[in-house]
Amino acid sequence: MPDYYEKTCTAPVNIAVIKYWGKRDVSLNLPTNSSLSVTLSQDNLQSKTTIRADPSFSKTRLWLNGVEEDVSASKRIQTCIKEARRLRSLYEQQLLRDGNSEVVPLSEYNLHICSENNFPTAAGLASSASGFACFVYTLAQLYSLPNSLSELSIIARQGSGSACRSLFGGFVAWEMGVNNDGSDSMAVQIADEHHWPELIALICVVSDAKKAIGSTVGMQVTVKTSSLLKERIECVVPKRMEEMVKAIKDKDFDAFAELTMRDSNQFHAVCLDSFPPIFYLNDISRAIIRLVEEYNSTSCNYKAAYTFDAGPNAVIYTLRENADELVGLIKRYFMGEEREQIPSGFRADAVPIFEEGSVKQLIRTTVGDGPRVIEDGL
Ligand code: PMV
Repeated sequence: MPDYYEKTCTAPVNIAVIKYWGKRDVSLNLPTNSSLSVTLSQDNLQSKTTIRADPSFSKTRLWLNGVEEDVSASKRIQTCIKEARRLRSLYEQQLLRDGNSEVVPLSEYNLHICSENNFPTAAGLASSASGFACFVYTLAQLYSLPNSLSELSIIARQGSGSACRSLFGGFVAWEMGVNNDGSDSMAVQIADEHHWPELIALICVVSDAKKAIGSTVGMQVTVKTSSLLKERIECVVPKRMEEMVKAIKDKDFDAFAELTMRDSNQFHAVCLDSFPPIFYLNDISRAIIRLVEEYNSTSCNYKAAYTFDAGPNAVIYTLRENADELVGLIKRYFMGEEREQIPSGFRADAVPIFEEGSVKQLIRTTVGDGPRVIEDGL
């Protein structure tokens, strides 16, 4: 028998096109509305976690990007460990009942957890989503849990709401559920990563600073004070979820783009409707919206769709055939690159030109797969 047990996995980032904003239960991370996201390729954005269980470890320890963190200070990490241990312990009992005499009591061992992102943490790039998804998935692999990905998503959800969606590749819905215990608030896959290969995401990193107001606090203010949120969760999102699922299944970019932009706008509108108001967009974000609008006005169909999370960074979805053109425009207006070519019909002066470095980094990526088990550990 080995002295220790170890697994290493990776998990992707997801970017919502129907936003989660509002908790009906803060400790269980139960949302006030369902949401839907696109999982992005792990080639560019990925969390990686190694977990080792060893009977000789005197306590459970955690390193994030090489720096040790206090596990006992994070209730959310504790909850994920507790839940995964509970499932492992049930599994151990079942193995024993089935007559398996060599069951390793992994549920009782302390853990050493190392986790890294290959992109800036907390920069509005959903690092908590990929981080918690990776953590829960790795623990489930270490424990050989027989549970489905949707069942595991219930655990990841308790780490960070949006993390539940990073357990799947492709297009993923987080169904809000109706139960008070959260047992039906989980992620389900709408379509896999091969479904719509023409879809491209352009991530415009406007700021890599940590966001001013974290999502948990922001959501609490919105739930308490915004009357617009009530309209959003009761009247808007349920219908929008259905329309978005259809748009994705039909690969209907026109419908997908309009729903995506409208939903991002409404999320930021409920932030502004909170009291005190919450602002995540800045002048550069708003100019990116302007650029996408002007670009869309050059055609009778939508060619691009912007979306923003709790920060100023933009994610622009487009189709492969338009991606080079759009990259050229972003470089011209926000990255200080002089380009001769602008698309016909695009009014050059309709968008303000910002100084070089306004968009610090432009990441071009595609729809990607879900968590993976890998060999080389941290
Ligand atoms: O999972 P959290 O608590 O980081 O909240 C994420 C909220 C948004 O990114 C703004 C929207 C979403 O659905 O991902």
